[in-house]
Amino acid sequence: MGVPVNSGSAAGHESLESMSLEPLMTRDYERDPAIVYERLRQAHGPVAPVDLLGVPVWLVLGYEEAYEVLRDDHAWPKGLENWRARREGRLPEDWPLAPSLDVNHVLIQGGEGYRELKVAWDTALRPFQDPRHPVAKRLKAQITRDADELISLFTQGGRTGWADLSAQFSRPLPLMVASHLLGFPGSQHDDALMDMWRVLDAGPDAGPALERLLATLSELGAWKMKEPGDDFPSYLLASHPGLSVEELSRELMMLLGMTSDHVGILISNTVVEVITGNLPASASLSAGLIRETMNRVVMQKPPLINFVPRFPSKDMKLGNHTIAAGDPVWVSVGAAHADPTFAGKVCPESTISTRAHLSWGAGPRQCPARELAGGAAAIGVSRLFERLSGLELSLPVDQLPWRSSPFMRGLRSLPVRYTVSGTPALPVPPVPPLPAAAGSAPADEAAGRPRSSLWRYLAGLVRGR
Ligand code: HEM
Repeated sequence: MGVPVNSGSAAGHESLESMSLEPLMTRDYERDPAIVYERLRQAHGPVAPVDLLGVPVWLVLGYEEAYEVLRDDHAWPKGLENWRARREGRLPEDWPLAPSLDVNHVLIQGGEGYRELKVAWDTALRPFQDPRHPVAKRLKAQITRDADELISLFTQGGRTGWADLSAQFSRPLPLMVASHLLGFPGSQHDDALMDMWRVLDAGPDAGPALERLLATLSELGAWKMKEPGDDFPSYLLASHPGLSVEELSRELMMLLGMTSDHVGILISNTVVEVITGNLPASASLSAGLIRETMNRVVMQKPPLINFVPRFPSKDMKLGNHTIAAGDPVWVSVGAAHADPTFAGKVCPESTISTRAHLSWGAGPRQCPARELAGGAAAIGVSRLFERLSGLELSLPVDQLPWRSSPFMRGLRSLPVRYTVSGTPALPVPPVPPLPAAAGSAPADEAAGRPRSSLWRYLAGLVRGR
């Protein structure tokens, strides 16, 4: 457990930097992180020192130790200013994770500034997560419509066919969700959505795409300061009027990234779980319990596999090691869920799975958007299984390609064969309009829904088959 070490006694312990460290991001890790986690657990117990792309960090592998760190934000605060090696200028200049951490939005920040930001996030998300609120009803109808349009697009070639459900459904749908949340006016969002995709894929064009994206989000933020609407940026600003355009654009980037990547992974992982015949998942899905199925999926395959770092405020004993104040501590929820103290108590046959998992975090910094994220993914998954009567993987499950990332665990592609269900799709309810508000003009609807570059790209995938 996390116990403060008497002052001075940490000096007798080996420092993180002087240890011989196993690299975390290896081919084994890309294939199956569980192999690496178990090797580390055998060698070090519940907390292991590792080399994360050239930087020494502690990785928390034990369930109880992970819970302890997440629960106690006072002893294990976030905030890059608390990172000793960073303060002392000892991080490599070209460390690949620096750009994503340096954005320093609400997920990464600690300290006083964070508290006001956190209240603003909670306030701004609330209308979207209250099922009785008009913006939540409108968002639900928009997601349903988007899901149906995406399914109609990739099945337009006939009753049966082949699709990459990741590229053609699980990734674009959450991008569209993010675009509704952000309240992009006109067609400004077209290229921003494609740029988000480029950033997430971290290919050669990711750098320029990130710059363009931040510029577009700054423009959007400046617009919402002048013309607030019924959307996330306007609600965030109403609660935190002191945010600068630059600060606001970082938060919007966080929303766009979290929504598009995490929700997409959740949809894909849920589909795989159901169609590969995981019996409890299929049974609960047919009983209409999609949220229960998704709880099993996030527990077994957490989208966010390793959390951003915390830095103990004092020297702390955790597992078999003494962690010096200011050392970076990464909680690995993927490893914690495989820890026998947790995994040994999970009963796969039970109808209701445990909520004691850490996939949404724990303690004061757990995910504030769980309802929104789970709700959006549930709509996507349920529309797929209603519209398609047959859905099977076109690759053996152990050959599905995974993306290699120190934060995420998601599929690179999800090739399936489908059969469109005999029964016609239920009519999609119209998207209810909101009371008129400046800046929130749904240009999509108003202008007969002109197609975005994202849509043209998706249509190209169908034509290119
Ligand atoms: C399947 C989807 C999602 C999963 C699995 C997920 C998971 C998580 C987890 C594990 C954390 C805590 C990380 C930590 O303790 O370091 C977190 C934090 C957070 N998430 Fe989510 N998330 C999801 C979707 C979203 C979405 C769609 C949004 C925004 C609309 C969002 C907004 C946030 C924010 C603002 C925080 C930071 C809270 C804080 O530090 O106080 N998440 N999320």
